[in-house]
Amino acid sequence: MPRLRGMSAQIGKVGVVGLGTMGAGIAEVFARAGLDVVGVERDDAALAAGRGHVDTSTGRAVRRGKLSADDQAALIGRIEFTTDLAALGDAGLVVEAVPERLELKRDLFGRLDGIVGAGTILATNTSSLSVTEISVAVSRPERVVGMHFFNPAPVQELIEVVRTVVTAPAVTEAVTGLARRLGRTPVVCGDRAGFITNALLFGYLNRAAAMYESGHASREDIDAAITAGLGYPMGPLALLDLIGLDTAYEILGTMYRQGRNRLHAPAPVLGELVTLGFLGRKSGRGFYDYSGDDGIGTNSAVVAPEDGRTRRVAFLDPSPGPLADALAKAGHDVVRAADGADLVVAPGDPETFARAAAATPIGAVLAATGAGPVVAGAAASGRPEDVVGLHLAGVGGTVAEVVRTVVSSPAAVTTVATVAASAGLTPVVCADRAGFVVDALLLPYLNDAVAMLETGYASAADVDTAMRLGCRLPAGPFEQLDALGPVAALATLERLQAEVREPGLAPSPLLTQLATAGLRFADL
Ligand code: 3HC
Repeated sequence: MPRLRGMSAQIGKVGVVGLGTMGAGIAEVFARAGLDVVGVERDDAALAAGRGHVDTSTGRAVRRGKLSADDQAALIGRIEFTTDLAALGDAGLVVEAVPERLELKRDLFGRLDGIVGAGTILATNTSSLSVTEISVAVSRPERVVGMHFFNPAPVQELIEVVRTVVTAPAVTEAVTGLARRLGRTPVVCGDRAGFITNALLFGYLNRAAAMYESGHASREDIDAAITAGLGYPMGPLALLDLIGLDTAYEILGTMYRQGRNRLHAPAPVLGELVTLGFLGRKSGRGFYDYSGDDGIGTNSAVVAPEDGRTRRVAFLDPSPGPLADALAKAGHDVVRAADGADLVVAPGDPETFARAAAATPIGAVLAATGAGPVVAGAAASGRPEDVVGLHLAGVGGTVAEVVRTVVSSPAAVTTVATVAASAGLTPVVCADRAGFVVDALLLPYLNDAVAMLETGYASAADVDTAMRLGCRLPAGPFEQLDALGPVAALATLERLQAEVREPGLAPSPLLTQLATAGLRFADL
């Protein structure tokens, strides 16, 4: 397709069909870069809503001093809003962002085929549908490519450029060149369910939804574990609300149908919320309530318990570590013997813990450290209702996982959470399950990334870039794996798998090999 060579420099006019949250954001991105945009919607009401999205988003930028009112007017002036697809006749590129239904997209592409010029590139912003299946609706599928933006489109730097087996190389080049012109980072990948980012992200999001549904931890605690522990900009449940629960349900359903991986079967709570019309931010309610929100939304803050009391805390551990220092700094009386202590902290292995329990005064609370299971120490203590797990998790150990067994008394849980919060840690209360919260969410996602690398679908560098830029993560999965160390990652995965016997959690062979060889991903 020689006509398309060097095309990105020439694309002066682009079309965006569908001006929902994503489409409007994409139109804004193009207009910000100085391109003329034709935004098409199916009727006047949808068109007005689409224009409203652009007004709101650019208005926010003006309020924040990122855009002048004149530039906002110029930007909006570059977008022609219309309900007439024929206005796309002279566009160099058309991106569709209509709802995730294959028939809808194929029908649209079929119609566009008869409207646009021979050299026009047709791009789909589909999240998980097959670009190949969409492309066969046009007479020359080699002009079809995926151009996958991330939410919120005006902000996220990544664009996944999805080429099918028939996409002309000139088309891929033109779209990657255009992405760079937009100031974005393109990552080229093949046409597989969920591409790179969604394929890794949605398993993790689904696990978080299932974790919430099972009562393992509260929604606030699940989200806080990830934001405070890993420095992700949002917790998984808040992110599901941003993406839209209906969209997430569709994406997971498509991924499940394509891969038959049980871990992608949408958590039932997602279907339940969707049926209620609780679609997330866009409907004002999802996992969280957004009434009165300005469209950006915040996680409901975790209210750390505080009672201002100082306590006598005994560390019966040969190397008490940073927690003891932090508690001392917070004014607690930190000692090495259990006499007269309010709280006794000891390694949770049954033998050590039984000794600690024997020395602990009646009425005091016992905290078992280590990766669990907490119930083993609790059983050995002879007073399991007084026992709670205390595990520092996340990068730098900033999250205190406060682990309740089935018999932990609520008062003991509150004591440990309160003491942890007083030391500046983020307490996250959870059930006694392998990986608690942070590792239980993180490790399967990291393992999925290794499995993706093993298939040769994407390089470690592309996966890291995609996850960092698509979701604004502080590190990509391979960077995170190397920071944790493959040996530690493998041990956690083995514990997770031993508990739930889920084939999808089996450590990927490459991870096992690296752990055995003492290597890291950066060594590959
Ligand atoms: N529209 C436009 N701009 C927005 C916005 C929105 N809805 N929300 C936030 N912004 C802008 C703000 O104006 C601000 O811009 P500035 O830096 O130029 O001032 C910037 O984003 C940061 O916003 P805030 O300071 O108000 O808030 P945060 O720092 O908390 O960031 C966030 C908000 C950008 C949403 C951030 O939390 C984030 O990146 N979260 C992760 C989102 C993510 O993972 N997206 C990918 C989802 S998967 C996907 O989209 C694929 C699809 O197929 C489903």
